[in-house]
Amino acid sequence: KKKIILDLDTGIDDALAIAYAVADPAVDLLAIICSYGNVYVENAVTNSLKILELLHATNVKVYQGRSHSAEKAKFVRMPVSAQIHGENGIGEIDLPSPKMKPAQGDALDFFIEAVKKYGKDLILVPTGPLTNLAAAIKKYPALVDEIGNITIMGGALTVPGNVTNVAEANIQQDATSADQVFRQAKLTQVGLDVTLRTLLTKKETQIWRNLGTKAGRKFAEMVDYYIKAYEVTSPDLHGCALHDPFAVGVAIDPSFVQTIDLNMYVTTDEKYYGRTIGDPSRLSAAKTNVKVAVNADVDRYLKAFMEHLTTLFKN
Ligand code: BDR
Ligand code: CA
Repeated sequence: KKKIILDLDTGIDDALAIAYAVADPAVDLLAIICSYGNVYVENAVTNSLKILELLHATNVKVYQGRSHSAEKAKFVRMPVSAQIHGENGIGEIDLPSPKMKPAQGDALDFFIEAVKKYGKDLILVPTGPLTNLAAAIKKYPALVDEIGNITIMGGALTVPGNVTNVAEANIQQDATSADQVFRQAKLTQVGLDVTLRTLLTKKETQIWRNLGTKAGRKFAEMVDYYIKAYEVTSPDLHGCALHDPFAVGVAIDPSFVQTIDLNMYVTTDEKYYGRTIGDPSRLSAAKTNVKVAVNADVDRYLKAFMEHLTTLFKN
């Protein structure tokens, strides 16, 4: 089984990423580390705990990570994230206060210890800002060689951004940390290039609702909120983008995407803040460290996604 740690800013598609990792029988979900973005870090923790309880996955630890970017004094939530994910980050669905408690101890130390313990068997999937990961690399630089794989949801190479013309939301939250990660770690980048092609519609959420289970109903309600938001912000797409659960899918089965090998960096200058770019000065370098997903086997992924989640929501 693949050992996975998720690093989330638990909004709606992050919740779907949790569900995918819990549902896939090939995965041992060790823990969730939280950050900020769709919501404040405290809410990301609460949302993660609520979703895990809804899915009866109470063995998964939830750690509170960094609350804001390395450079800013605090995190200011953007109105657009509330518009897309709801005030509570999970589409205003009502779930009981979690009985589970957040894990004690420092999130970064836990992650570093997990890298030392599991080495190449461990996969990290960050689907929020890269603040926690950059801080962990700073604390324990060897992790970039010791860990099995890092697959991130973030950035864009061939398409425009989604929060500014150039930047994708996760990278834009903390471009400095993202730049450190893109320069230092070996990564698979699952960006908007491919995640805007994996779309879910009300047809699929109706299948979950029809299961007649609490998990089916709550996830249908939550994702319908997200679909509605996409109808307003991106009417051309005809569905909501499965950004974060697609990154989990690719982390488990890289054959869901085709990648190109590049050395990447992230711009921190004002004009192009948060853009992930192929570094022209290293185009002919002998080694590359980022695999950028540029094509996706959308149908096969959506089939796996629906199979896994529907089976999970049945119980
Ligand atoms: C990313 O930004 C967040 O709003 C989503 O959860 C996803 O991780 C998409 O740009
Ligand atoms: Ca996210």
